[in-house]
Amino acid sequence: MSRTDTEGPGQQYDATPYLPGRGGIPAHRRAAAKCQGCPLFENATQTVFGAGTAAARIMLVGEQPGDQEDRQGEPFVGPAGGLLRKALREAGIDVEEAYVTNAVKHFKFTEARGKRRIHKSPDLREMTACRPWLAAELRMVGPDVVVALGATAGKALLGTSFRVSKERGALIPLPGEQPKAYVVATLHPSAVLRSDDREAAYTGLVSDLRAAAEALHRAPR
Ligand code: URA
Ligand code: SF4
Repeated sequence: MSRTDTEGPGQQYDATPYLPGRGGIPAHRRAAAKCQGCPLFENATQTVFGAGTAAARIMLVGEQPGDQEDRQGEPFVGPAGGLLRKALREAGIDVEEAYVTNAVKHFKFTEARGKRRIHKSPDLREMTACRPWLAAELRMVGPDVVVALGATAGKALLGTSFRVSKERGALIPLPGEQPKAYVVATLHPSAVLRSDDREAAYTGLVSDLRAAAEALHRAPR
């Protein structure tokens, strides 16, 4: 662990003190805009809270906002979002009816010579700190199906032993707060964009999303 990753004992990152005790999604979005539960707020432009309606039956969870999302304040509006929307359409999922969010609500990046901002994966402490926002979204939306896009989302939803390569495409009961919901994990759309065999990776993503669509159709309304 590098020096900057270690804090004194007792230094806890946690969004909990910033959560409003009450209210719905708008109240939570306003409160999250002021979150300083971990150091990621310092360099990012803004909090990117989830988007969509509390009535959504399906929730999509990514990792964290990317460069475009950080600038625009909305999840999945960049290249990964474009690919995701295409895959959702092909799988028969209406993105307008989904609630879309991320496991971590601030963009983490390194700056290459002060120019391009390069995505950096959030670490476990940041994921854990931000988890209360995701838990609140799960409570408020109460989805039937949750799609974990990639390993970070999978771990945030199912615990740190989760492995996307082993468990993708299967229906996994969401532990804890939403016992009636199922998680379907798949690749992150950015991983598809980076893949050597993009076509195969994309086909896999669509196939996992179809499993989520089927689970949605089977769930009682
Ligand atoms: N990647 C993510 O995980 N989330 C976004 O919102 C955009 C890119
Ligand atoms: Fe708060 Fe999450 Fe942002 Fe950290 S990443 S400051 S916990 S909203």
